[in-house]
Amino acid sequence: MESLVISLGGSIVYGESLNLNFLKKFSELIAGQKKYDRVGIVVGGGRLARMYIGELKKFGVNDNVLDEIGINATRMNALATATFFTDVNTKIPITVNEAAEMAHSYRHIVMGGTEPGHTTDTVSVLLAERIGAGMVINATSVDGVYSADPRKSPNARKFKRLSYDDAIKLSINASIGAGPNVFMDITSLNIAKRSSIEIHVVNGLDLNVYGRILSGTEHDGTVIGHFGDGMKIAE
Ligand code: UTP
Repeated sequence: MESLVISLGGSIVYGESLNLNFLKKFSELIAGQKKYDRVGIVVGGGRLARMYIGELKKFGVNDNVLDEIGINATRMNALATATFFTDVNTKIPITVNEAAEMAHSYRHIVMGGTEPGHTTDTVSVLLAERIGAGMVINATSVDGVYSADPRKSPNARKFKRLSYDDAIKLSINASIGAGPNVFMDITSLNIAKRSSIEIHVVNGLDLNVYGRILSGTEHDGTVIGHFGDGMKIAE
């Protein structure tokens, strides 16, 4: 049985508001694909999470509670996403264990966050590890991994592929005093490395990119995997 996990960034599902047109097209595309028997979809919190966390932070609410608030936002977005699918769980699992159980019953498994201290990047890779998926599509608002934040540095270069170790170094550098915009958290990259899970970081709003990945065609995002030749900059 072949499995795939998609980490659907919160900003894709919930930008200014719920992105219902995108969800409709995305669900049709995923439901129509024939390559994978099981697809796990882990949904981020997006603006909904940032709105709550940002406001509550000003009042000194502690980080553990803020994470719980964020988790609830991811689960709201997950339930909204699940309603667009058939052959899908109708209750959002609260652990990867529970999601793995559900994977025996449904073709599509949709979930959000699990516990404080990490993001849905980590949940996606843990789910992939658990259900034996060799690949995670990280569908984000940026079209790959860059040498610096492309929104702030005009000279930032996009990587075509990255080894796990180079990706971990970049993630550590990006997380030093940088706020929430790290392309993937370090834990998720370490788990991907230990289980050889290939990660495709792509612009999640570009619906063509999913078809390209599913058919094994090159795409213009970044692939993170066991590459020995270090960082390769896109031409
Ligand atoms: P996201 O996974 O969307 O976080 O979860 P993010 O990566 O910061 O957001 P984007 O992708 O840049 O938009 C939202 C928040 O929910 C909490 C964290 O506080 C996270 O920042 N969360 C989420 C957890 O604490 N645990 C989880 O398993 C998931």
